[in-house]
Amino acid sequence: MHIILMGPPGAGKGTQATNLVKRYGILHISTGDMFREAVKEGTPLGKEAKSYMDAGKLVPDSVTIGIVRERLSKPDCRKGFILDGFPRTVEQADALGEILKDNGLQLTAVLNINVPTEDLIERAVGRRICKSCGHSFHVKFNPTKVEGVCDDCGGETYQRADDSADTMKSRLSVYESSTRPLIEYYRKAGVYKEIDGRQDIAKVEADLSAALGA
Ligand code: AP5
Ligand code: MG
Ligand code: ZN
Repeated sequence: MHIILMGPPGAGKGTQATNLVKRYGILHISTGDMFREAVKEGTPLGKEAKSYMDAGKLVPDSVTIGIVRERLSKPDCRKGFILDGFPRTVEQADALGEILKDNGLQLTAVLNINVPTEDLIERAVGRRICKSCGHSFHVKFNPTKVEGVCDDCGGETYQRADDSADTMKSRLSVYESSTRPLIEYYRKAGVYKEIDGRQDIAKVEADLSAALGA
């Protein structure tokens, strides 16, 4: 199973990818998570990515395509994966086509979680993430049982640096200009399916599984 999970910032890609990888035993490959890890470790990649992320802009294609190419060439990818947050530009989508071909892999589905723009700022601003296990919560839609403490592992939760209302405006505008065109790109390729992301988390998960035919 080789899936692209698409959707605007805050649509629920990370939340749903976490559920789907458990269900299908496949890998979760999130370029955003890879960049955040590099920022945390202070690597040259992290230093370069940070200024773009903090401004709500895309990390340059050449950099992003390079890390995905390297990741998808590892043998563990043969058991299947969900790409979360990649591709985000037509150039990245073209490069992904090449990378898959080079590794003898084929896309199973491109699933787009559709959420209207007006809901997305609230989702991002209310998001809280566990420092230890990475699980995403939301102060209103998916709160932790104890404030500031992860339900899964007891770790401390934090807010992402780019989850302010201001940065979200720039992330949403980048989505509209660079990433939304990929809907047509994959619709034409015949592998595209859309899921209503305004429903609760469990219902979105059920619809995604149904779209995958399982
Ligand atoms: P990335 O980390 O990919 O961020 P994003 O695409 O903006 O998406 P988010 O992670 O914010 O949202 P999500 O869809 O995962 O939602 P979540 O499940 O957490 O990228 C960050 C940055 O890295 C980019 O801005 C860019 O700079 C760089 N980058 C990454 N990939 C790149 C690429 N390919 N090229 C160039 N640059 C790249 O849910 C959000 C909240 O809503 C949570 O609180 C959750 O609990 C809640 N929620 C989830 N589902 C529901 C629901 N159904 N109902 C109510 N609440 C819900
Ligand atoms: Mg995410
Ligand atoms: Zn945790």
